[in-house]
Amino acid sequence: MKGNTFISALGLFAGAQALLRFGCSQLSVQRLDPLVNPGVSPSPHLHQIIGGNSFNVSMDPANHDLAALSTCTTCQFTEDFSNYWTAVLFFRARNGSFHRVPQIAQAGMEGTKGGMVVYYMSDALFDTAQRSKVTAFKPGFRMLVGDVSSKTRDQARKYRQLSYTCMANQASRTPETVEFPKGPCRLGIMANHRFPTCWDGKNLDSPNHQDHVAYPETGTFESGGPCPATHPVKIPQLMLETVWDTSKFNNKADWPEDGSQPFVWSSGDSTGFSDHADYMFGWKDDSLQRAMDGHTYVSAPMLKTQTIAQQNKCTVRDMVNENFDGWLDKLPGDNMVM
Ligand SMILES: *[C@@H]1O[C@H](CO)[C@@H](O)[C@H](O)[C@H]1NC(C)=O
Ligand SMILES: *[C@@H]1O[C@H](CO)[C@@H](O)[C@H](O)[C@H]1NC(C)=O
Repeated sequence: MKGNTFISALGLFAGAQALLRFGCSQLSVQRLDPLVNPGVSPSPHLHQIIGGNSFNVSMDPANHDLAALSTCTTCQFTEDFSNYWTAVLFFRARNGSFHRVPQIAQAGMEGTKGGMVVYYMSDALFDTAQRSKVTAFKPGFRMLVGDVSSKTRDQARKYRQLSYTCMANQASRTPETVEFPKGPCRLGIMANHRFPTCWDGKNLDSPNHQDHVAYPETGTFESGGPCPATHPVKIPQLMLETVWDTSKFNNKADWPEDGSQPFVWSSGDSTGFSDHADYMFGWKDDSLQRAMDGHTYVSAPMLKTQTIAQQNKCTVRDMVNENFDGWLDKLPGDNMVM
């Protein structure tokens, strides 16, 4: 817990990257999911996507090399053409209308259009030495964390460390909850996605996009827990932070009369237990491995960077053509709130 505070302090006061910690602006918001629903347009629920502009309805690993096909990326590190995406947060007013919640940049990254902050770690967040060896993902690697159908705390617990932080200020990182925060959050809700850190060493993907990776057998990545024999290869801890600017929706008069909280994922989940995130690796050549082997903290001099203005320029076209601005009488895809 202390470590997280330390990192956020670094982010705030040094205005810099910690380990690999970098901002990526919004690439697109569309109802597409080339990992779980390849070729399906529109996909069942809305996603917000960052990364390389080769993002498409289908991204068959047999003929889609993200680093080769992308001509730009929304990420600060220009060799990262990966795609990362999550569901989109909506506010449901007392009258039943929905409004999309905007995303905001973190301190030190002001001016970044929406998006997320991405971390790649070889050691616990607060271990400044970063001496552990991790094996970077291989071309074609992809994975999913979380389950859109989780409805209970027990189901959600299968995924360690998917959590929410109610942001009282920019440095807030605790407490983390498995469900949506129950009250208004002054500076928004941060969704934290930490992916599994052990790989079977063979499969770039698996039918459920999860079985080729695993959590440490005991303990956690942070405590140096060993990988299970089935998944012996230690991969970087990939973590995504998304700040949803709920501050405009904090008027309790618009909140449900029964005292429940008003935010729902684009899938219709009002509990927060269905939280999930998708990753398609797309770093150019061995750039990620070099960065991980560099054991640097706060900066990564071996990587090329671009300005926030350049990050913001990279987009992909709207392939679904669906309006989700302003007040809506239903969620995109007509997903039922549950
Ligand atoms: C997306 O896929 C379509 C159909 O295969 C293709 O025509 C288009 O060029 C692709 N777009 C990008 C940005 O790769
Ligand atoms: C529902 O409530 C919101 C928030 O008060 C308001 O802005 C919106 O216009 C209302 N929608 C309808 C259809 O009344």
